[in-house]
Amino acid sequence: MQGYQWLRASALAMLATGAAFVAAPAQAQGSLVMYCGVQEEWCRAMSTTFEKETGIKVAMTRKSAGEIYAQLKAESANPRGDIWWGGTGDPHLQAAEEGLTQEYESAANKDMQDWSLAQWRAAQKRTIGIYAGALGFGFNTQQIKQKGLAEPKCWADLLDAKLKDDVQVADPNSSGTAYNMLATIVQLMGEDKGFDYLKALHKNISQYTKSGAAPAKAASLGETAVGIVFIHDAVVFAVQGDPIKAVAPCEGTGYEIGSMSIIKGARNLDNAKKFYDWALTPAAQALAAPAKSYQVPSNKNAVVPPQAPKMSEMKLINYDFVKYGSSAERTRLLTKWDKEVKPLPK
Ligand code: F6P
Repeated sequence: MQGYQWLRASALAMLATGAAFVAAPAQAQGSLVMYCGVQEEWCRAMSTTFEKETGIKVAMTRKSAGEIYAQLKAESANPRGDIWWGGTGDPHLQAAEEGLTQEYESAANKDMQDWSLAQWRAAQKRTIGIYAGALGFGFNTQQIKQKGLAEPKCWADLLDAKLKDDVQVADPNSSGTAYNMLATIVQLMGEDKGFDYLKALHKNISQYTKSGAAPAKAASLGETAVGIVFIHDAVVFAVQGDPIKAVAPCEGTGYEIGSMSIIKGARNLDNAKKFYDWALTPAAQALAAPAKSYQVPSNKNAVVPPQAPKMSEMKLINYDFVKYGSSAERTRLLTKWDKEVKPLPK
């Protein structure tokens, strides 16, 4: 190697070392308090990878969407969280309207799907779509056979008396999935007929769980014949060979735009923004599938997992996120459900 070449090579090497030194996670990059609304495994993949890549210490807790919304409200005078990542969009929109979250515009917006940005615009920049998934149910094939039932394909099939105490869905107060179902049924059938349906369904419900995906697990284990869930949450168990089939109901169904918001008054605002930008990258969105989460990612350049249910082949309603994510409507529907459906005798 000639002298100048060597000099150049060593200078480059020094630069590279310097760059590596700068890029390596420093010890004290601060912290981030993350409220996470998806499945535990995906929450952990997101928090540990971000921590590894940036050196920012992440304190993560997983909760259902309605619970995180309630926590933000309870903590609003003294916010403890920085970023709310994941969970159905409706409570994110409600939190935005109530000023519990704050505006942010990421440079990554240019790479987002329209449905992701529609959420961001509807919330005056206070929330953004990070994934999408359709609502449906999963049924245990053995249980359905044992009961002498044909495979359920429609919402109407879930009212069969043979399914008494054998359907599970979450409580819409705690769970974003269950609120999405409540709003879906109202939009699909009209409010009066929708509530009649929910009251009739109540007879078959064995329990309203806290978390939205829990009924999928119960159906995969044969603890319930049917679990009303997001279809991707049933697919997880079908993929691993459990006796469960996922269904997109024949009458039509709703869907979620899973969202992310920065909490108003975040103590670690810069780190929340760093996480937000990172969470919108294709690389971060690719952490979903290995963590058995098969939603459709919001970055146009992110790979859609092959296991993701094909939303384009389903009969999807034109879910009105603005209306059903509004504070007044969400509060009104939940109050009505609490009064008219939950306390009914079986
Ligand atoms: O991670 C699974 C998932 O179904 C998400 O797609 C959804 O946003 C979230 O869970 C809803 O959870 P919960 O119903 O418990 O609020």
